[in-house]
Amino acid sequence: MYIGKFKISVWVVFAMCLIKCSLEFDPADNRLINCGSSTNVSVGGRVFLGDSSLNSSVVLSTSPKIPANTSSNSIPSSYPSDLYKTAQIFSGNSNYTFSVSKHGRHWIRLHFFPFAYQNNNMSHASFSVSVQDFILLRNFRTDIPVVKEYSLNVTSDKLVLYITPSPGSFAFLNALELVSVPDELIPHSVKTVESTGSYENLVHQALQTVFRVNMGNAAVNPQNDTLSRHWVPDGSFLNTPNLVQFVSKVQAVNYSEGGPTREIAPPSVYGTASKLNSENDPTLNVNITWNFNVDPGFRYLVRFHFCDIVSKSLGQMMFNVYINSWYASKHLDLSNQTSNKLATPYYLDVVMKETHSSSLTVSVGTATDATSYPNAMLNGLEIMKISNVKGFLDVDPASLKSGAKIKTGLIVGISVGVVFIIMIFALAFFLVIRRRKRTHSNANGNKLDGASEYGYRFSLAAIRKATDNFNESLIIGVGGFGKVFKGVLDDNREVAIKRGNPDSQQGINEFQTEIEMLSHFRHRHLVALIGYCDEQSEMILLYEYMENGTLKSHLYGSDNPILSWKKRLEICIGSARGLYYLHTGSAKPIIHRDVKSANILLDENLMAKVADFGLSKTGPDLDHTHVSTAVKGSFGYLDPEYLIRQQLTEKSDVYSFGVVLYEVLCGRPVIDPSLPREMVNLVEWATKQQKKGGLEKIIDPNLAGQMKPESLRKFLETAEKCLAECGLDRPTMGEVLWNLENALQLQEDEASSQDSDDVSLRTDEGRPLQSLSSTRQYSMGSAGDIVDISMNTVFSQMRNGTMR
Ligand SMILES: *[C@@H]1O[C@H](CO)[C@@H](O)[C@H](O)[C@H]1NC(C)=O
Ligand SMILES: *[C@@H]1O[C@H](CO)[C@@H](O)[C@H](O)[C@H]1NC(C)=O
Ligand SMILES: *[C@@H]1O[C@H](CO)[C@@H](O)[C@H](O)[C@H]1NC(C)=O
Ligand SMILES: *[C@@H]1O[C@H](CO)[C@@H](O)[C@H](O)[C@H]1NC(C)=O
Ligand SMILES: *[C@@H]1O[C@H](CO)[C@@H](O)[C@H](O)[C@H]1NC(C)=O
Ligand SMILES: *[C@@H]1O[C@H](CO)[C@@H](O)[C@H](O)[C@H]1NC(C)=O
Ligand SMILES: *[C@@H]1O[C@H](CO)[C@@H](O)[C@H](O)[C@H]1NC(C)=O
Ligand SMILES: *[C@@H]1O[C@H](CO)[C@@H](O)[C@H](O)[C@H]1NC(C)=O
Ligand SMILES: *[C@@H]1O[C@H](CO)[C@@H](O)[C@H](O)[C@H]1NC(C)=O
Ligand SMILES: *[C@@H]1O[C@H](CO)[C@@H](O)[C@H](O)[C@H]1NC(C)=O
Repeated sequence: MYIGKFKISVWVVFAMCLIKCSLEFDPADNRLINCGSSTNVSVGGRVFLGDSSLNSSVVLSTSPKIPANTSSNSIPSSYPSDLYKTAQIFSGNSNYTFSVSKHGRHWIRLHFFPFAYQNNNMSHASFSVSVQDFILLRNFRTDIPVVKEYSLNVTSDKLVLYITPSPGSFAFLNALELVSVPDELIPHSVKTVESTGSYENLVHQALQTVFRVNMGNAAVNPQNDTLSRHWVPDGSFLNTPNLVQFVSKVQAVNYSEGGPTREIAPPSVYGTASKLNSENDPTLNVNITWNFNVDPGFRYLVRFHFCDIVSKSLGQMMFNVYINSWYASKHLDLSNQTSNKLATPYYLDVVMKETHSSSLTVSVGTATDATSYPNAMLNGLEIMKISNVKGFLDVDPASLKSGAKIKTGLIVGISVGVVFIIMIFALAFFLVIRRRKRTHSNANGNKLDGASEYGYRFSLAAIRKATDNFNESLIIGVGGFGKVFKGVLDDNREVAIKRGNPDSQQGINEFQTEIEMLSHFRHRHLVALIGYCDEQSEMILLYEYMENGTLKSHLYGSDNPILSWKKRLEICIGSARGLYYLHTGSAKPIIHRDVKSANILLDENLMAKVADFGLSKTGPDLDHTHVSTAVKGSFGYLDPEYLIRQQLTEKSDVYSFGVVLYEVLCGRPVIDPSLPREMVNLVEWATKQQKKGGLEKIIDPNLAGQMKPESLRKFLETAEKCLAECGLDRPTMGEVLWNLENALQLQEDEASSQDSDDVSLRTDEGRPLQSLSSTRQYSMGSAGDIVDISMNTVFSQMRNGTMR
């Protein structure tokens, strides 16, 4: 008897182990952090370690560390209250560095449960979060509890999560997870709704789970999911609840070999469904539709989970599946998909293209020409947002507000502009016809030559050496294109090294554009290209290093010393010169397309140079009026006319430059969501104040008492003209330059009459003048500005043998 019992219990243990082993996924990386706390908290069997118990595998860099806590009774019992009772507050740029033990797909979950601690009301916090090349959150704020879940393919041994408070604000985090997930969770290639085509690039994208829904109107708790997911009931998303029958048969679910595993979705999901209630009507022809709010402008991976837990025989579940009005699957035959087995899970992935709509609807509906009884069902649904070409997963809330503005502008613009447009069309048509033959014959002559002719090629080894193997601590900036490192070449020359993200097609185009542009255009006020590297499909550009960083960082949001009014004028003049040269320096004007204070760099003498030509385009021929092109550029700086008509002229740069002038004058961001509503958009607010005569309200208080009224008047007049609604009313870059030089002269006149009559030979600091306006008044684009320093340095490089 005893022996028998023993045997039985051994078998039970063994069997239980088998079940457990097959049930549970054991993540290689499982870092759960209870932020701002000194205690460990267990939530559903998962232990979140207090910050202070972290070992070297997770390092938090922030200063000062501000752990926050709240009283116990403010958190509803439906939340893991011990976890959410504490938070870490970040007052400056901070980061978590994780050691990663296994590359591949990981989830990052960010838990936010805002509460007020001392003077910090977390409902008012505003911040951005980025990781690898992805921007997860932009100027994010929340006054309700949320958990954000992202997945990405981690491809290095260290993963750094950056937390960046918006200017003047702070950031917070209650809990943080970095967890390995099975690689097969996200496939390499997924079919798209548009066509028979497929979306191939998924492994390189970051995804955000925006909805995870269990049909059958039953929630599934993390405890009932091997990957600790939370599935919400579908009832509140249903458009047509009276057509629907909720069914539940969890025990029936039979995972089959080769089909989805429990990690794809647990039995609690496959075992419940929302099904068409068609029992009394064999002629029923309807859809069941669920409606979801999403951010427009992104692609979404939509995953449908099916499991026929209702049919008694094969071939009875045949229906159509739609996303919006697109077919996700036509005549889906569930028994066919599950190799003729009932109650067997199956899932369907479809990538939904970008739309302008903020609603995404999912439907299952009867296929009228199907032979079976009308039926349709769905067991579970996941909607995942796919990062865009810039690596963004989030829209800046500020851009949404201004976006609405543009729409009304658009309507007004259209009604006013129709006559005008017709005239332009007629004219353009006439000109095109007239010129067609001629253009055809010399089109190639006007095209820019390829990069190979002009670039200076560096080996990857030389670049690795210069950047200490892309040491993250040398990063001086991150942009849409990739990361920028500070590097030191063998000849001790400091360079800025921009390393493109190899995955984006956009990147390749921008890479080539930038090499072409910068090889052709050398100018004292354009950042010089020193070389490039395209070894091993890298896209790396080397520029002269600009000691003082961006103009933006000297205007606000940093500890840089305050720029005087005169210095600001000189910087504006320098950048205007660079742009003027771009517009006029060659037979065909070059349009920069991304003029902003972050693209104006300052060297060690605070001399301005225009940078970042990735978006540049050759402008119109004289006879054509514009270049028509997809809207690109930076929000807040975009020419409204360009937004509406998508027609690009030099005047679009003039508009953006006008925005920069206001930024320089006011010393604040172009879009600042932390300000009261009417002040959020700098241009709107400044124009309004200027009209009302409330100028003193907008000017950077740091400039108080420095400005000569005439100089300020000239400057304002110039800025205002740059922002004219209609491009034709805006000045040319040359006129802008002339006026700014004039403003500087007006500023200096009195000063000079007081202490010297030779303005042009002295500076504030007694340093020799750096090519700045006062030495060469009105000598726009003079030959002396076009320099060729980099050619010489490149040759010295060649002698040093750094290059291939
Ligand atoms: C939390 O857990 C870690 C790892 O298990 C342990 O080293 C640490 O002592 C725990 N901290 C506390 C306060 O219990
Ligand atoms: C750090 O702690 C985690 C979780 O307790 C553990 O898995 C990991 O092995 C530890 N790493 C080191 C380097 O001690
Ligand atoms: C993390 O932040 C600290 C400052 O808080 C900074 O010194 C460090 O360079 C950052 N690490 C990385 C990898 O950016
Ligand atoms: C909350 O923080 C205060 C200090 O601000 C500390 O005295 C108290 O012990 C903390 N409470 C908990 C539960 O951590
Ligand atoms: C924090 O801010 C939110 C939103 O503005 C407000 O509703 C709440 O009352 C504030 N809490 C405290 C303690 O000030
Ligand atoms: C992650 O990226 C690497 C390199 O691009 C690729 O080889 C691998 O298959 C990817 N893994 C997953 C799970 O996507
Ligand atoms: C699951 O399917 C297998 C064959 O695919 C079958 O042998 C087994 O009986 C099924 N189990 C249940 C519980 O239906
Ligand atoms: C969830 O798991 C609990 C036990 O952990 C179980 O009792 C319950 O039936 C499960 N719920 C579903 C819907 O599977
Ligand atoms: C179901 O939805 C699709 C897509 O929106 C639509 O084309 C179709 O006509 C709908 N069917 C019925 C019966 O409403
Ligand atoms: C599903 O249907 C297709 C064509 O209708 C057929 O070729 C295929 O063999 C079927 N698969 C199964 C598992 O029945």
